[in-house]
Amino acid sequence: MDKLIFLDNGATSFPKPEEVYTFMDNFFRNSGVNPGRSGYDLCIEVGELVEDTRKMLTEFFNGKDHNRLCFSYNATDALNLIISGMLQPGDHAVTTTLEHNSVLRPLYHMFKYNGVEVDHIPFDIKGFVDPDDFQKKFKNNTKLVIINHASNVIGTVQPLKEIGKHCREKGIPFAVDVSQSAGKIPIDIEEMNVDIVAFTGHKSLLGPMGIGGLYTREGIEIRHSRAGGTGVRSAVRTHLDEYPYRLEYGTLNVLGVAGLHAGLKWIEKKGLDTLHTHEMKLTTMLRDGLINVDRVTLYCQEDLASHISIFPLNVDGFEALNTSTLLDVDYNIANRSGLHCAPLVHEQLGTDKVGGAVRFGIGPFNTEEEIQTAIEAVKEISEFSKKSNK
Ligand code: ALA
Repeated sequence: MDKLIFLDNGATSFPKPEEVYTFMDNFFRNSGVNPGRSGYDLCIEVGELVEDTRKMLTEFFNGKDHNRLCFSYNATDALNLIISGMLQPGDHAVTTTLEHNSVLRPLYHMFKYNGVEVDHIPFDIKGFVDPDDFQKKFKNNTKLVIINHASNVIGTVQPLKEIGKHCREKGIPFAVDVSQSAGKIPIDIEEMNVDIVAFTGHKSLLGPMGIGGLYTREGIEIRHSRAGGTGVRSAVRTHLDEYPYRLEYGTLNVLGVAGLHAGLKWIEKKGLDTLHTHEMKLTTMLRDGLINVDRVTLYCQEDLASHISIFPLNVDGFEALNTSTLLDVDYNIANRSGLHCAPLVHEQLGTDKVGGAVRFGIGPFNTEEEIQTAIEAVKEISEFSKKSNK
């Protein structure tokens, strides 16, 4: 079998830069101790690495106070902290039909068990939500707007700045899930009128799984929804209010922080613009190669100006899983099919009727040759579908 063509970078980036593997290995072998718990040199050194990574991420999002950068285990974990720490019974929240279950399910939980009302703004035919639709939904009890920056199904990048402007006018906190966009496109919370970002480390930030976090702007407070050890002020009976302890509970995934540190350094060295230009060049190549192919349907890929490198398609006559399996088994192309944990996107596209869609996620290490192979593979599958569905 030919070498694996990894086009599942929407689920996780793979491989990671060599520097990430080397740094993590070295860190775990030589410095894998628990920071912030003791005063010996190695412990202080590891504490400094954690502190440095907080600073790098704070700068990455253009935040001001690195103590407000809290680590969690992944974006779902961070989003749960936000949703359960910002909403109370009787509150109202606004989100979109573009969300991943990491937002939809915690909100549904708040609806079902805490009586929180939730409105879902639909996206237009090109895959974008209209900022004015948010304004129309705002009520006196609206306490949170929470949306993703870039869709994990169709790759469209939402107009955060305009949505955030409406939120600011009404004093409604605006939280953004940057799982798919962080490490692909710039995220400037000041410029975009964003109050809270939730991120994961294992996608385009090129770290390992099990590390994520959130940054909360000054003036926005998230209530504790958990409690536990912080390593400092142990005599205090309640969980600490000050950041970062406020939203961190127990020993951190320090190995994950180390990997994230190395991933961020690599991104800084290459430059976000260079990485995004490469990925969008390949996405455009894929789009151009498949847009006019008989029996192939692409979703929201006509205009790639406000997009990341996420590319969904179906082959007429086949369920998404059939196409996905053919790509995997016959061409060794790793991809993800199904509903991508974002059921409302597929309901709106109508792709829920065919088991979702096949998704290619392009990453920094993909090549033109791999994309050409993927184009030929989809073309051949479309021919096969024509013959099978006569
Ligand atoms: N959220 C990841 C995806 O979209 C796992 O595939």
